Amino acid sequence: MVADRLEAAGVAHPQDEARALLRDATGLTRLDLALAPRAPLTAEEARALSGYAARRAAHEPVSRILGERGFWTLDLAVAPGVLDPRPDTETLVETALSLVAEKRDAPLSILDLGSGSGAIACALLSELPAAWALAVDLSGEACAATAANLARCGLSDRASIVRGRWAEALYGRFDLIVSNPPYVRTEDLAGLEPEVRLHDPALALDGGADGLDCYRDIIADAPRLLAEDAFILFEVGFDQAASVAALLADHGLEVARVARDAGGHERIVAARLGPSPT
Ligand SMILES: C[S@@+](CC[C@H](N)C(=O)[O-])C[C@H]1O[C@@H](n2cnc3c(N)ncnc32)[C@H](O)[C@@H]1O
Repeated sequence: MVADRLEAAGVAHPQDEARALLRDATGLTRLDLALAPRAPLTAEEARALSGYAARRAAHEPVSRILGERGFWTLDLAVAPGVLDPRPDTETLVETALSLVAEKRDAPLSILDLGSGSGAIACALLSELPAAWALAVDLSGEACAATAANLARCGLSDRASIVRGRWAEALYGRFDLIVSNPPYVRTEDLAGLEPEVRLHDPALALDGGADGLDCYRDIIADAPRLLAEDAFILFEVGFDQAASVAALLADHGLEVARVARDAGGHERIVAARLGPSPT
């Protein structure tokens, strides 16, 4: 049984994951499987399932094996060499939407720094019908993945993509700046679980010696990029909210909200320009 093989390999939810792989290998739905759980597999289906099981037992995430992942209300493609978007990041989307709730139909300009798969930009554009987004990533693979997911979600006409180093080459002001930058301390990279260490790119994970390098770079440019009444939102590591708040304060930005993820950790820090000194 696939579930037994996954359990023996130390996979955390072997039954659920085995069922997801089975559905993909056979094209059956959850309902089909509930109605005919013992329908025999064809030889081709059995071969596909066995290949999937081997890959999952070698710690490749199910989303990478199947090439897609649900994020927010969307079905996104997961590309090799690009960070697989995580449920924690949906908290950033939720927080951003609640901060601009009264401007939902306004032509908001959004800057997504480190767009990766494009998950955040796609989710925000899908909820803000008149908004426009600029997605930036240093990785060419990530830029291609952002473009592919924007197209997949029918959002390409409201987005542009720039390959570059954070906001270095950007000018102008934005109503919403969002970023889930790399925030793992370099010395912690080797201890990450194999699903992450072997499959997510180091460029998407490594936040430098204290994990805060990318926040420093982005926050240094934030004041010149924020429009009046604009917000900047960061996803942060589970123990980094206070440090990121201090970096924001150093640059004249005041924390507007700190939101917790489903596990109760402070995961999102939102800030805006503080009052100008008189
Ligand atoms: C943690 S991933 C986030 C991806 C996506 N926004 C998400 O939430 O799923 C960080 C992203 O930042 C990008 N990145 C790393 N350093 C960068 C830099 N100096 N300038 C722009 N993007 C960078 C990586 O390529 C990666 O796609």
